[in-house]
Amino acid sequence: MNKIADMLGADLKGKVCLVRMDHNVVKNGSIKDTMRIDATIPTLIHIYRKGGLPVLMTHIGRPFDKKTGIINISEGDSVLPVVQYLENKFQLRGLIPDCRAEGSSGITDLSPIGKAVQALKKGKVDFVYLPNTRWFKGEEAKDERADIFAQGLAAFADVYINDAFGSWQAHSSTYNIAQFLPSYAGLLMQKEIANLNKVFEPKRPFLAIVAGAKFDTKIGPLSSLIKIADKLILGGVIYNAYLCSKYQLQIEGVTNEDMEAANKFIKDSKDYLDKIVELPIIVENTGIEKRQGTRELDIKTLQPGTKLNYVLDMSAENFARDEIKKVFLEAGTIFVNAVMGYTALYPEGSMAMYSLIDKCSNAVKLFGGGDTIQDFKEYLPGIFAKAQNDPSYYFFTGGGAILDAIQQGSPYGMKPVQMIMRAEG
Ligand code: 3PG
Ligand code: MG
Repeated sequence: MNKIADMLGADLKGKVCLVRMDHNVVKNGSIKDTMRIDATIPTLIHIYRKGGLPVLMTHIGRPFDKKTGIINISEGDSVLPVVQYLENKFQLRGLIPDCRAEGSSGITDLSPIGKAVQALKKGKVDFVYLPNTRWFKGEEAKDERADIFAQGLAAFADVYINDAFGSWQAHSSTYNIAQFLPSYAGLLMQKEIANLNKVFEPKRPFLAIVAGAKFDTKIGPLSSLIKIADKLILGGVIYNAYLCSKYQLQIEGVTNEDMEAANKFIKDSKDYLDKIVELPIIVENTGIEKRQGTRELDIKTLQPGTKLNYVLDMSAENFARDEIKKVFLEAGTIFVNAVMGYTALYPEGSMAMYSLIDKCSNAVKLFGGGDTIQDFKEYLPGIFAKAQNDPSYYFFTGGGAILDAIQQGSPYGMKPVQMIMRAEG
């Protein structure tokens, strides 16, 4: 049996602790929501408590263009707002090493990191925060460059701590690095995994709710989830594509790829399809710019071959129906990785669903996905504020990470997590 290496068991005194965070919360130079930073503060506190010297790092956005191999360095993707937030909120002095990139292949000269770590050791600053990890050459490389970058980073540190549950992709700073330093799981990482286990060993009945703008990225996790869950509710383009496939409808915005994925999902999951709870009333809109020509339609009344405009929400009425309410109110676990529609125009379906979930006082309620939580907070601030201190709720800092774990069949299946496991005994 392997178990996760807990940072609390590590000797950190006087040691430089290289900590991978998922502080990917900056959009165009400002912080959208601090939740993911706040969630990592316990790790930072315990590093200080144990006398460690923190060197933090995160990725921001997607500056690496996979097609061209070009790394686009723009101020809008800088870690500066995160550093300023930590400085202001906790009265700490931070330092970002002045690493410069040459051309478009990213940062190669790591020597400014060495200088910054010296300042940290001398007590001139309280933490170092590396530039956006995706600005460095090698971070997303699939060849030996990933190890070269990781070795370069490891040279400045004594231990590596991964607290970036949301950064599930196996990159140099989440994966390769752990080969070169004693490596541990941060406290947030451990908490997220403990809660993820509630999906794998759910209190039953287990109701899973998944939606999304593209079907193809979610087909793998969905095919695994339908096996674990007792009931599955779909929303967004995923549901639209499922409806098109099952009822031979044509819905605007559903692409051929979405249809292929839906057909495959229905075929692969044929033994489990009766677990899907179909929301009968869909909301059709003429375009996607503004609310216009809205119609609420019952899917059961539509003839095969019917063409529909954009379907942008599930009607709030679905969640007032006894047969649907029953599914929620009887659930022992509710896992939500979804908003029900295009909330910028139609938040009503998601609001009605989240309000209903809040009434499920006996259920374990697990929410994942940045947009899901953001919308919950924006549209139902009162319920959200209360939920944050309610132990029956848990808000994951990752969305893709959870789906990846579900697809792997275990929280320990995620590649970066495998690197911080130790043989027991
Ligand atoms: C996120 O925001 O979903 C995580 O930080 C992961 O980002 P990525 O999908 O760009 O790897
Ligand atoms: Mg994401």
